[in-house]
Amino acid sequence: MALKRLDKVLSELGVASRSELRGIIRGGRVTVDGVVVTEPERRIDAEGSSLCLDGKALRYRRYRYFMMDKPAGVLSVTEDRRQKTVLDLLPDELRRLELFPVGRLDKDTSGLLLLTNDGDFAHRVISPKSGIKKQYLATVDGEPDEQDVRAFAAGLVLGDGTQCLPAGLEVLGQGRCLVTVMEGKYHQVKRMLAAVGKPVLTLRRLSVGGLVLDETLGPGGYRALDEGDLCKVLSASAIGK
Ligand code: URA
Repeated sequence: MALKRLDKVLSELGVASRSELRGIIRGGRVTVDGVVVTEPERRIDAEGSSLCLDGKALRYRRYRYFMMDKPAGVLSVTEDRRQKTVLDLLPDELRRLELFPVGRLDKDTSGLLLLTNDGDFAHRVISPKSGIKKQYLATVDGEPDEQDVRAFAAGLVLGDGTQCLPAGLEVLGQGRCLVTVMEGKYHQVKRMLAAVGKPVLTLRRLSVGGLVLDETLGPGGYRALDEGDLCKVLSASAIGK
């Protein structure tokens, strides 16, 4: 059983900042297993204790998971001195959770971005060894054809000689196509489509594993993921092709 400081536990819950929490705890507003605790540094069993703030029960969850509809024009990093990041789109209580993006989307790419503070989960999602498929909707200059579909399926070799794993390409017409990849090399989808002479104009990620972007969120919108959503993410074979 790992014991943790009470103020740290409450800050991981997104209740308030560590400095605000010291006042809240000293003010006698927090109970641990029904007993008021006024020392922020008191070590508690975060997962085994029942915590209340102002009489309201708090459920401790060390790890949190969200999906965001990342807008184009925003960086998928945790901080940048000049440019807006996806974390800038979250309210303060979520920014305190030390979330980070699961992999990167380019600045001009929009769509499904996962955010978490669970490093093991992020590693599993990103690793090509997990075989988790990511699907993108691309608009391109030109019209992909059957020869391109076969080249993607065989495993493309990019302009710099990089060998890609077999990938899916579905032609939708009017310069639009769906690309399904299992890896996340730098500018992967753009470089793959460029390698078959169809440069990308716009790119949007639609799904990760079996988890599909909730299009009702709108640009910059986000929502928490539940257990069912996480199972969908980790189900590698949910999207065919
Ligand atoms: N492939 C790209 O080229 N860009 C992205 O943002 C994601 C995948």
